[in-house]
Amino acid sequence: MEAAKNEKDVYILAIESSCDETAAAVVKNGREVLSNAISSQIALHTLYGGVVPEIASRKHIEKINQVIEEALQTAGMTLQEMDAIGVTYGPGLVGALLVGVAEAKAIAYAAGLPLVGVHHIEGHVSANYIEDRTWEPPFLCLIVSGGHTHLVLVKEYGSYEIIGRTHDDAAGESFDKVARAIGLGYPGGPKIDKLAKEGNKHAIAFPRAHIEGAPYDFSFSGVKSAVLNYVNSCEMKQEEINRADVAASFQEAVVDVLVSRTVAAAKEYGMKRVAMAGGVAANSALRAAMKEACEKAGLSLMYPSPIYCTDNAAMIGAAAYYEYKKGVRHGLDLNAVPNLMIGQR
Ligand code: KG4
Ligand code: ZN
Repeated sequence: MEAAKNEKDVYILAIESSCDETAAAVVKNGREVLSNAISSQIALHTLYGGVVPEIASRKHIEKINQVIEEALQTAGMTLQEMDAIGVTYGPGLVGALLVGVAEAKAIAYAAGLPLVGVHHIEGHVSANYIEDRTWEPPFLCLIVSGGHTHLVLVKEYGSYEIIGRTHDDAAGESFDKVARAIGLGYPGGPKIDKLAKEGNKHAIAFPRAHIEGAPYDFSFSGVKSAVLNYVNSCEMKQEEINRADVAASFQEAVVDVLVSRTVAAAKEYGMKRVAMAGGVAANSALRAAMKEACEKAGLSLMYPSPIYCTDNAAMIGAAAYYEYKKGVRHGLDLNAVPNLMIGQR
């Protein structure tokens, strides 16, 4: 028997279409995931070695209604029982974002529901609220996705201060590019993660970049170029490349930098609690190394389950809830903002 809806509870139908996953979810009170439907386009983009924006938009259009229906059905709820529609409106691919935004506006209008636009990266951070229903700001968050690498102080719900950022490639982007260079295909992160388990992480000394005067900033283009040079020089010398060693050594270089800078920033800013977010936070070596370093430094650590690290709509529902509670409402003129900044409203 279905439980009667408690009037104080807030149910949000959330929609995510910023890159290559079409996703919808129903989230209760920002913490409880009642459904999390995801239609992945990865297999399609694998054919091209990366996300093709035009194909992504078309696929979102094809799948979005189906995914929303599935989310409502799995939650056992109707649109009329929702309190708001949450949707990612940036950053991301403009054509992909527009599909979700247009859909959310149409549903909000038709059902007479408030509309709450969500920043995709703030969604990633909010995945931690789903993972542990007691996890609250303030905390330091390492955000590592395909497009972003940031160290952020989460001061309160929806309040962020960026204290570190990448100067070039995002962490996930470097995984994807290195994977392509060693013939692993797209998306590179999970493939490198898997292959690295068979390799020696100390086999090749790839560089760790430090940025003068910016101790919490990152740069990954150097390590990526070093891998490409290594692969090219092996090919020129007709030496066989041990791909597992390359994967493990590259991963170690990235993980080392991410972990050491996060722990140093936590100390400097007096943060006792650390979280991770974004696709790369699913990386098993990063999770293990961060856990060990945080234990050593006396910091408590939180990271979402892998399914909530990579793109999903449940995290958008969690972020939308805290915006909704603050009274944030977007009009039907809400537009996709491909380069939306964290904390921008
Ligand atoms: O957060 P996400 O799903 O999408 C963006 O907002 O960008 O992140 C995707 C990125 C890709 O670069 C992918 O290769 C990387 O996350 N990724 C991983 C792993 N799983 C996904 N990187 C390293 N190890 C993984 N296990
Ligand atoms: Zn993402």
